[in-house]
Amino acid sequence: MSGGLFTVGLGQPVYLDALVTNGIPASNVLGVTWILTNVPVGSTAALAPSPLGTNVPIYSPADRAVFQLAGRQMFRPDVVGQYTITALVNTNGGNLVLTRGITGSRYMGLQTCALCHSGGAIADDKYTTFTNTAHASFFKRAIDGQESSYYASYCISCHVVGYDTNPLAVNGGFDDVAAQVGWTFPTVLTNGNWAAMTNSLKKPGQHPV
Ligand code: HEC
Ligand code: HEC
Repeated sequence: MSGGLFTVGLGQPVYLDALVTNGIPASNVLGVTWILTNVPVGSTAALAPSPLGTNVPIYSPADRAVFQLAGRQMFRPDVVGQYTITALVNTNGGNLVLTRGITGSRYMGLQTCALCHSGGAIADDKYTTFTNTAHASFFKRAIDGQESSYYASYCISCHVVGYDTNPLAVNGGFDDVAAQVGWTFPTVLTNGNWAAMTNSLKKPGQHPV
């Protein structure tokens, strides 16, 4: 799965699409040279062939009408910081230079976002609007038995934050903190399951603590 974001958890895959306008005939697009132009100190991240085949469409539906896919790569940020990727698209008319910045990071929890996003002068209030959505509290209601009697451990990956059990994706996501604190999915869905979780696990469990 991909959220299509430019800030991603450490070890999570970034799927890169080099897009060029449909105005260039496909036969004039000769290839792409990919370069990881900047990585943070200590990073050994590398670009790799993308696992996505050409049958997988361009990520954004809006882009599909105006762009064609020139090439794909994948990489996983391995330390916190800024990465820059350059794609040199070789066409009959010359090279096109595409650049994309990616930030590798750890999941911080909603309260960290609230420091700047709760209505002060620094940034827009995203905290209040988010906490008023069903997203912010769905997991709590589900494990407390208020949503569905068939809610199970394999349901949670989309209802919490940063759930990626790939051993490379150690980034403070829900699965990482759950493993750290020894949390396992409740055997009975009932009121109190959420309350019994540690605050460190409630953070990527989304609900404000
Ligand atoms: C240190 C302050 C600070 C913190 C902490 C912070 N942000 Fe931001 N954020 C900003 C600023 C400043 C902007 C740019 C606001 C603008 O351009 O209007 C921004 C922009 C954003 C935007 C884009 C808003 C838009 O409408 O385009 C999103 C989404 C966002 N932040 C999410 C988050 C999330 C999620 C967290 C917590 C994981 C977070 N921010 C933590 C300062 C912060
Ligand atoms: C692939 C991602 C994904 C998985 C896996 C998943 N869900 Fe969801 N689910 C979502 C999303 C996205 C929403 C919308 C959340 C929201 O509205 O805040 C949602 C919402 C829900 C809702 C609330 C619907 C409503 O209208 O309020 C229920 C109930 C639900 N899921 C049950 C389940 C159950 C049971 C499972 C496991 C069998 C499951 N989900 C697995 C993505 C997923």
